Amino acid sequence: MSLQIIQTKDGSSSILNIGLNETYHSVHGALQESRHVFIEQGLHYLQNKFGRKALSVFEVGFGTGLNALLAAEFAEKHHIAIHFCAIETFPLSWEVAAQLNYVRLLEWGDATEAFKKIHLSDWDTEDHITKFFSLQKIKGSIHDYVIPPKYNCIFFDAFAPEKQPEMWTRDVLAKATDALNDGGVLVTYCAKGQLRRDLASLNLKVEKLPGPPGKREMTRATKMN
Ligand SMILES: C[S@@+](CC[C@H](N)C(=O)[O-])C[C@H]1O[C@@H](n2cnc3c(N)ncnc32)[C@H](O)[C@@H]1O
Repeated sequence: MSLQIIQTKDGSSSILNIGLNETYHSVHGALQESRHVFIEQGLHYLQNKFGRKALSVFEVGFGTGLNALLAAEFAEKHHIAIHFCAIETFPLSWEVAAQLNYVRLLEWGDATEAFKKIHLSDWDTEDHITKFFSLQKIKGSIHDYVIPPKYNCIFFDAFAPEKQPEMWTRDVLAKATDALNDGGVLVTYCAKGQLRRDLASLNLKVEKLPGPPGKREMTRATKMN
């Protein structure tokens, strides 16, 4: 797989998958996008709504580990125990991940150590990364994996539907949302009409929310009881 490290408009790095001609994050700002879509509209929303002291998150597409790092920062700052599970088919090497500049951009003294632990933790076992954040990375494909039904939040962070349509089928969305607890949410940067219709057809309440800088909209879908 041919990869190139790039810089996005907010100064944070991302990766270009040259074969797919697709970046791992928005070119308008990787850090801004992850914070807005996954942390603010996912974790912060759930914390405000339910006042939870513990959250479980499943991520489709672990990638650079940026979302995991920001979730760990959120857990430490808010004293919320987060169990984070992420699946990835093509893990990046630490040599590549270590070149990303995220830890220098965060105002969190433990970011460097946490990011390294996030990447070097073993695959397929659960590891404590920080006091409030535990991580289980699954090496494999979402198409073959059965997600245990116990999550408050799904970070749906696949490559765009135009590049990897097989990640956005109603079947994959059903598999992901079946794993949500009642009141749990799926958040994604994608705001395509077909995605919203598929999620609504799976009996989720679908919200079109303002997107991060450079993107008009994003989607949050809530599992109803
Ligand atoms: C948009 S990037 C993820 C960005 C990531 N969340 C981050 O914070 O850097 C999409 C990721 O999905 C992974 N992927 C592609 N096909 C997959 C599959 N079938 N199952 C799981 N992950 C897959 C890609 O290798 C890539 O790392």
